[in-house]
Amino acid sequence: MKPISLTNTEQKDSDKQLQAQLIEQGQLPEHIAIIMDGNGRWAKSRGNLRSFGHKAGVDSVRDITEACAQMGVKYLTLYAFSTENWRRPKMEVNALTRLLASSLRKEADNLNENDIRLETIGQIDRFPDKCQRELKEVIELTQDNSRLNLCLALSYSGRWDIKEAVKRLARRVKSGEIDPEDINDEMISCHLSTADIPDPDLIIRTSGEYRLSNFLLWQLAYSELYITETYWPDFRRKELYKAIHSFQERERRFGKLSKDEQKKQAKLHVQELTT
Ligand code: IPE
Ligand code: IPE
Ligand code: MG
Repeated sequence: MKPISLTNTEQKDSDKQLQAQLIEQGQLPEHIAIIMDGNGRWAKSRGNLRSFGHKAGVDSVRDITEACAQMGVKYLTLYAFSTENWRRPKMEVNALTRLLASSLRKEADNLNENDIRLETIGQIDRFPDKCQRELKEVIELTQDNSRLNLCLALSYSGRWDIKEAVKRLARRVKSGEIDPEDINDEMISCHLSTADIPDPDLIIRTSGEYRLSNFLLWQLAYSELYITETYWPDFRRKELYKAIHSFQERERRFGKLSKDEQKKQAKLHVQELTT
């Protein structure tokens, strides 16, 4: 199989080894979601304009996407622009939308050649026409790819997503198609913008902020959280490996008892029955 390369650099043997170790460990997250934060502070700490940080952030996106594709992570969802980010100064918003359009243009073939499928969630129609056109083109170009699903959250917010799902469900109730009593978790999940994507296993936030900032509010119910002080432009694959390693060390209980505790309780139960 052709090696994956988005960064145009040959993968080092030491990196291959690190990835192989993580894969061997088992419990690789199927879906990683990332709140890519800290571009502005990264730039300011270097005496640069905030837009410089956003540009540097694109290099991190490329590196993290490449590493996920190489390791066999199936879904990568990146929070690139929130509904609330429209409230930033016009100059910054313009710089961000221009950067989005130019990055899409530059990366389109590369994503396609590496069997990566691009999707988006959010209010895409709020973006300038040029951005919308570029997005549409890359989405169409990569629609049959299957190695990695790269989902960009653009003009996205969790509350917007839930609100839209509620509206869709309400319409179906109104038309008599569904009984309100039949509405369950799966049905709600199916009406969200992420209907085709499993819930994230791991959610990473960079830049040391301890909040979700209106990201996938419904979908993150049982995701493992990983927060790092590292600013997004400095978040490269080694940092990703740390996050995955931390995920692999955890026990996901989903409200149940831990495996050890379950065994202990089962033993006690048998003892009770036999004495
Ligand atoms: C994240 O970096 C990128 C976007 C929200 C678009 P920020 O721009 O929020 O950077 P900080 O948090 O101000 O450092
Ligand atoms: C969250 O970052 C949104 C994205 C990373 C796209 P923000 O920088 O907008 O979040 P707050 O305002 O600090 O909560
Ligand atoms: Mg921020």
